Amino acid sequence: MEPVAVDGACYLLPVEAGRHAPALAARLFDAVHQSQAHLAPWLPWCTSAYDLAAAQAYLEEPSPERRFLLLSREAEDAAPWVLGAFGLLLEDGHDRAWKLGYWIREDATGRGLGRRGAAAAAHYAFTVLGALRLTLLIAVHNRASQRVAEAIGAEREGCLHQRLRLPSGQTDAYVYGLLPEALAPAWGPPGP
Ligand SMILES: CC(C)(COP(=O)(O)OP(=O)(O)OC[C@H]1O[C@@H](n2cnc3c(N)ncnc32)[C@H](O)[C@@H]1OP(=O)(O)O)[C@@H](O)C(=O)NCCC(=O)NCCS
Repeated sequence: MEPVAVDGACYLLPVEAGRHAPALAARLFDAVHQSQAHLAPWLPWCTSAYDLAAAQAYLEEPSPERRFLLLSREAEDAAPWVLGAFGLLLEDGHDRAWKLGYWIREDATGRGLGRRGAAAAAHYAFTVLGALRLTLLIAVHNRASQRVAEAIGAEREGCLHQRLRLPSGQTDAYVYGLLPEALAPAWGPPGP
Protein backbone atom coordinates (compact mmCIF):
# COMPACT_ATOMS: atom_id res chain seq x y z
CA MET A 1 0.00 0.00 0.00
CA GLU A 2 1.19 3.48 -0.86
CA PRO A 3 2.23 5.96 1.85
CA VAL A 4 -0.26 8.77 2.42
CA ALA A 5 1.12 12.31 2.16
CA VAL A 6 0.63 14.53 5.21
CA ASP A 7 3.10 17.37 4.68
CA GLY A 8 6.69 17.92 3.63
CA ALA A 9 8.05 16.54 6.89
CA CYS A 10 5.97 13.42 7.51
CA TYR A 11 3.64 10.84 6.01
CA LEU A 12 1.28 8.05 7.01
CA LEU A 13 2.57 4.54 6.40
CA PRO A 14 -0.25 1.96 6.13
CA VAL A 15 0.60 -0.95 8.43
CA GLU A 16 0.72 -4.21 6.50
CA ALA A 17 0.90 -7.15 8.88
CA GLY A 18 4.34 -8.74 8.93
CA ARG A 19 5.85 -6.58 6.19
CA HIS A 20 7.87 -4.07 8.21
CA ALA A 21 11.50 -4.03 9.25
CA PRO A 22 12.12 -5.02 12.90
CA ALA A 23 13.70 -1.59 13.47
CA LEU A 24 10.29 0.02 12.99
CA ALA A 25 8.90 -1.90 15.97
CA ALA A 26 11.75 -0.51 18.07
CA ARG A 27 10.86 3.02 16.91
CA LEU A 28 7.20 2.42 17.77
CA PHE A 29 8.06 1.08 21.19
CA ASP A 30 10.32 4.09 21.82
CA ALA A 31 7.52 6.54 20.84
CA VAL A 32 4.96 4.90 23.12
CA HIS A 33 7.38 4.32 25.98
CA GLN A 34 8.60 7.90 26.12
CA SER A 35 4.98 9.17 25.89
CA GLN A 36 3.45 6.82 28.42
CA ALA A 37 2.31 9.47 30.92
CA HIS A 38 0.84 11.54 28.08
CA LEU A 39 -1.05 8.69 26.37
CA ALA A 40 -2.09 6.51 29.30
CA PRO A 41 -5.02 8.63 30.56
CA TRP A 42 -6.78 8.27 27.19
CA LEU A 43 -5.55 5.00 25.67
CA PRO A 44 -6.18 1.97 27.90
CA TRP A 45 -3.71 -0.21 25.97
CA CYS A 46 -0.90 2.18 26.93
CA THR A 47 0.23 0.87 30.31
CA SER A 48 3.64 0.43 31.93
CA ALA A 49 3.46 -3.17 30.63
CA TYR A 50 3.68 -1.97 27.01
CA ASP A 51 6.86 -3.52 25.62
CA LEU A 52 8.69 -4.26 22.39
CA ALA A 53 6.58 -7.39 21.89
CA ALA A 54 3.42 -5.24 21.96
CA ALA A 55 4.90 -2.94 19.33
CA GLN A 56 5.88 -5.96 17.23
CA ALA A 57 2.36 -7.38 17.57
CA TYR A 58 0.87 -4.07 16.37
CA LEU A 59 2.97 -4.31 13.22
CA GLU A 60 2.81 -8.05 12.63
CA GLU A 61 -0.60 -9.32 13.69
CA PRO A 62 -3.63 -8.98 11.42
CA SER A 63 -6.20 -6.52 12.76
CA PRO A 64 -9.69 -5.42 11.68
CA GLU A 65 -8.40 -1.87 12.11
CA ARG A 66 -6.72 -0.09 9.19
CA ARG A 67 -3.57 1.13 10.88
CA PHE A 68 -1.22 3.95 9.95
CA LEU A 69 2.03 5.10 11.50
CA LEU A 70 2.88 8.77 11.23
CA LEU A 71 6.55 8.73 10.21
CA SER A 72 9.13 11.45 9.90
CA ARG A 73 10.74 11.82 6.51
CA GLU A 74 14.02 12.30 8.36
CA ALA A 75 15.32 8.77 8.81
CA GLU A 76 18.25 7.90 11.00
CA ASP A 77 19.85 4.56 10.14
CA ALA A 78 17.26 2.48 8.33
CA ALA A 79 14.17 3.33 10.34
CA PRO A 80 12.19 6.58 10.36
CA TRP A 81 11.01 8.11 13.63
CA VAL A 82 7.48 7.22 14.69
CA LEU A 83 5.60 10.45 15.46
CA GLY A 84 2.21 8.89 16.18
CA ALA A 85 -0.43 6.55 14.87
CA PHE A 86 -3.93 6.65 13.37
CA GLY A 87 -6.56 3.94 13.12
CA LEU A 88 -9.69 3.49 11.04
CA LEU A 89 -12.20 0.85 12.10
CA LEU A 90 -15.28 -0.11 10.10
CA GLU A 91 -18.31 0.38 12.35
CA ASP A 92 -20.97 -0.61 9.88
CA GLY A 93 -20.26 -1.91 6.39
CA HIS A 94 -23.73 -1.32 4.99
CA ASP A 95 -23.74 2.30 6.14
CA ARG A 96 -20.06 2.79 5.25
CA ALA A 97 -19.47 4.32 8.67
CA TRP A 98 -15.96 4.20 10.12
CA LYS A 99 -14.35 5.24 13.40
CA LEU A 100 -11.16 7.31 13.61
CA GLY A 101 -8.64 7.23 16.46
CA TYR A 102 -5.14 8.68 16.92
CA TRP A 103 -2.22 9.57 19.13
CA ILE A 104 0.89 11.72 18.76
CA ARG A 105 4.11 11.16 20.72
CA GLU A 106 4.46 13.65 23.53
CA ASP A 107 7.54 15.49 22.27
CA ALA A 108 5.89 16.07 18.86
CA THR A 109 2.58 17.53 20.11
CA GLY A 110 1.45 21.12 19.63
CA ARG A 111 2.80 21.38 16.08
CA GLY A 112 -0.35 20.56 14.18
CA LEU A 113 0.62 16.93 13.53
CA GLY A 114 -2.57 15.65 15.16
CA ARG A 115 -4.84 17.64 12.91
CA ARG A 116 -2.82 17.14 9.72
CA GLY A 117 -2.50 13.41 10.29
CA ALA A 118 -6.18 13.09 11.19
CA ALA A 119 -7.15 15.02 8.07
CA ALA A 120 -4.96 12.79 5.90
CA ALA A 121 -6.41 9.64 7.49
CA ALA A 122 -9.95 10.98 7.02
CA HIS A 123 -9.21 11.83 3.39
CA TYR A 124 -7.94 8.26 2.92
CA ALA A 125 -11.14 6.89 4.50
CA PHE A 126 -13.38 8.91 2.20
CA THR A 127 -11.42 8.47 -1.04
CA VAL A 128 -9.84 5.00 -0.73
CA LEU A 129 -12.10 3.10 1.67
CA GLY A 130 -15.36 4.61 0.46
CA ALA A 131 -16.39 5.85 3.90
CA LEU A 132 -19.43 8.11 4.00
CA ARG A 133 -19.07 9.04 7.64
CA LEU A 134 -16.38 9.04 10.32
CA THR A 135 -17.14 8.92 14.02
CA LEU A 136 -14.74 10.08 16.73
CA LEU A 137 -15.52 9.17 20.33
CA ILE A 138 -13.67 11.52 22.67
CA ALA A 139 -13.70 11.73 26.46
CA VAL A 140 -15.37 14.94 27.66
CA HIS A 141 -12.14 15.97 29.40
CA ASN A 142 -9.87 15.35 26.42
CA ARG A 143 -9.84 18.87 25.07
CA ALA A 144 -6.74 18.40 22.88
CA SER A 145 -8.38 15.55 20.99
CA GLN A 146 -11.60 17.54 20.66
CA ARG A 147 -9.61 20.42 19.12
CA VAL A 148 -8.14 18.00 16.56
CA ALA A 149 -11.63 16.73 15.66
CA GLU A 150 -12.97 20.28 15.34
CA ALA A 151 -9.98 21.39 13.25
CA ILE A 152 -10.66 18.75 10.58
CA GLY A 153 -14.31 19.71 10.32
CA ALA A 154 -15.98 17.19 12.65
CA GLU A 155 -19.11 18.32 14.48
CA ARG A 156 -19.99 17.48 18.05
CA GLU A 157 -23.28 15.58 17.81
CA GLY A 158 -23.96 14.59 21.38
CA CYS A 159 -22.72 13.09 24.61
CA LEU A 160 -22.79 9.38 25.43
CA HIS A 161 -22.93 8.74 29.13
CA GLN A 162 -20.30 6.42 30.61
CA ARG A 163 -19.27 5.33 27.10
CA LEU A 164 -15.49 5.06 27.55
CA ARG A 165 -13.62 2.88 29.98
CA LEU A 166 -10.49 4.84 30.83
CA PRO A 167 -7.89 4.15 33.54
CA SER A 168 -9.58 6.88 35.62
CA GLY A 169 -12.91 5.06 35.34
CA GLN A 170 -16.02 4.97 33.20
CA THR A 171 -16.27 8.31 31.42
CA ASP A 172 -18.76 10.32 29.37
CA ALA A 173 -17.75 10.80 25.73
CA TYR A 174 -18.64 13.28 23.05
CA VAL A 175 -19.56 11.84 19.67
CA TYR A 176 -18.08 13.78 16.78
CA GLY A 177 -19.21 13.12 13.23
CA LEU A 178 -17.21 13.98 10.12
CA LEU A 179 -18.75 13.96 6.65
CA PRO A 180 -16.72 14.15 3.42
CA GLU A 181 -17.99 17.60 2.49
CA ALA A 182 -17.03 18.98 5.90
CA LEU A 183 -13.43 17.73 5.63
CA ALA A 184 -12.83 19.38 2.27
CA PRO A 185 -12.97 23.02 3.37
CA ALA A 186 -10.88 22.25 6.48
CA TRP A 187 -8.13 20.48 4.61
CA GLY A 188 -7.04 19.69 1.09
CA PRO A 189 -4.59 16.92 0.26
CA PRO A 190 -1.04 18.12 -0.49
CA GLY A 191 -0.44 18.77 -4.16
CA PRO A 192 1.69 16.49 -6.33
C1 LIG B 1 -4.82 14.68 21.01
C2 LIG B 1 -3.45 14.67 20.32
C3 LIG B 1 -3.47 13.62 19.21
C4 LIG B 1 -3.19 16.05 19.72
O1 LIG B 1 -1.99 15.99 18.99
P1 LIG B 1 -1.24 17.34 18.52
O2 LIG B 1 -0.24 16.98 17.50
O3 LIG B 1 -0.76 18.08 19.70
O4 LIG B 1 -2.45 18.10 17.83
P2 LIG B 1 -2.42 19.55 17.14
O5 LIG B 1 -1.08 20.18 17.34
O6 LIG B 1 -2.91 19.36 15.73
O7 LIG B 1 -3.56 20.37 17.91
C5 LIG B 1 -3.67 20.24 19.28
C6 LIG B 1 -4.82 21.13 19.74
O8 LIG B 1 -5.09 20.76 21.05
C7 LIG B 1 -4.89 21.89 21.90
N1 LIG B 1 -4.39 21.35 23.16
C8 LIG B 1 -3.26 20.69 23.40
N2 LIG B 1 -3.18 20.35 24.70
C9 LIG B 1 -4.33 20.81 25.26
C10 LIG B 1 -4.85 20.78 26.57
N3 LIG B 1 -4.20 20.17 27.57
N4 LIG B 1 -6.05 21.36 26.79
C11 LIG B 1 -6.73 21.97 25.78
N5 LIG B 1 -6.29 22.00 24.52
C12 LIG B 1 -5.09 21.45 24.27
C13 LIG B 1 -3.91 22.75 21.16
O9 LIG B 1 -3.95 24.09 21.61
C14 LIG B 1 -4.43 22.59 19.75
O10 LIG B 1 -5.61 23.33 19.56
P3 LIG B 1 -5.64 24.79 18.87
O11 LIG B 1 -5.13 24.62 17.50
O12 LIG B 1 -7.04 25.21 18.93
O13 LIG B 1 -4.71 25.65 19.66
C15 LIG B 1 -2.32 14.35 21.33
O14 LIG B 1 -2.36 15.30 22.36
C16 LIG B 1 -2.40 12.97 21.92
O15 LIG B 1 -1.84 12.03 21.38
N6 LIG B 1 -3.10 12.83 23.07
C17 LIG B 1 -3.13 11.56 23.79
C18 LIG B 1 -3.87 10.47 23.04
C19 LIG B 1 -5.29 10.89 22.74
O16 LIG B 1 -5.91 11.63 23.48
N7 LIG B 1 -5.80 10.37 21.60
C20 LIG B 1 -7.17 10.64 21.20
C21 LIG B 1 -8.11 9.77 21.92
S1 LIG B 1 -9.80 10.19 21.50
